[in-house]
Amino acid sequence: MNTNEIITLVTGGNRGMGLEIVKELSQKGQRVIMGSRNLEKGKAAITRLSQTGIKADLVQLDVMDPTSVSKAAQTITEKYGYLTILINNAGAVFDFQQKPSEVKLTNLRADFEINYFGLVDVTQKMLPLLKRSSKSKIINISSIMGSKTEALNPKANVYHAVAVGYQSAKAAANMYTVQLAKEMSSANLPITVNAIDPGMVATEFGGATPELAKKLGAKPVSFGIARTIELATSPNNQATATFTNTYGTVAW
Ligand SMILES: NC(=O)c1ccc[n+]([C@@H]2O[C@H](COP(=O)([O-])OP(=O)(O)OC[C@H]3O[C@@H](n4cnc5c(N)ncnc54)[C@H](OP(=O)(O)O)[C@@H]3O)[C@@H](O)[C@H]2O)c1
Repeated sequence: MNTNEIITLVTGGNRGMGLEIVKELSQKGQRVIMGSRNLEKGKAAITRLSQTGIKADLVQLDVMDPTSVSKAAQTITEKYGYLTILINNAGAVFDFQQKPSEVKLTNLRADFEINYFGLVDVTQKMLPLLKRSSKSKIINISSIMGSKTEALNPKANVYHAVAVGYQSAKAAANMYTVQLAKEMSSANLPITVNAIDPGMVATEFGGATPELAKKLGAKPVSFGIARTIELATSPNNQATATFTNTYGTVAW
């Protein structure tokens, strides 16, 4: 199979940083598949992109629904035959500002369903497609909120942030990144696995509005996706098991 064309799947691609990643990578010549849990929202986003001359494909993909993930993998297998890059971008927070002593278990579980179990399910089901490429990349959109080192650093911006469910789920996704990267390397598979911290970015994340987030110091979306775009477009596929942001390495 000729796998020269770069085919990239972005989960949660219909808005926020995911949409900008879809847009930028399409503009840079990749064939990008937007994963959207809601097909209507996905179609509307694809239409808006096409009005600016940007082409992207669409697949229904709810990372919390194993049947949806299996169907998306099946559709991609039939339509494209392989994947070059998987960007696990879909994420959400359900326990913002709840104290660890009081955090609701339902919220904690929801944090893990999307940010950890969903990410693992998508990755496992897309791996057979990624293995068909001569070199492929898994990019997990994590957060500095998942860094235990920074949570203990009084000088860090995230020192006072509390969302223990979200933070634990991102920390768990970081460990999955490390362990999967090691497994791929040990098996001599040309698949790199890395985690990225976008920084605090002005989207609708956590129910905010981009305007409100900006007032609180959030950076533009273009800043938040810069490291992901750099990694996704780098011809070099050596770095693996890293956790980085625009400024460099992030402490695990
Ligand atoms: N914004 C920040 O400050 C910040 C900081 C650090 C890390 N991050 C991480 O960056 C990533 C993107 O965040 P964002 O700021 O772009 O958030 P956002 O604007 O809230 O967008 C989240 C995206 O995820 C999708 N999504 C939610 N639940 C899903 C599910 N079950 N299956 C598939 N997709 C689902 C949403 O789709 P719907 O439209 O259907 O809801 C939306 O497309 C997340 O992983 C987040 O944890 C964000």
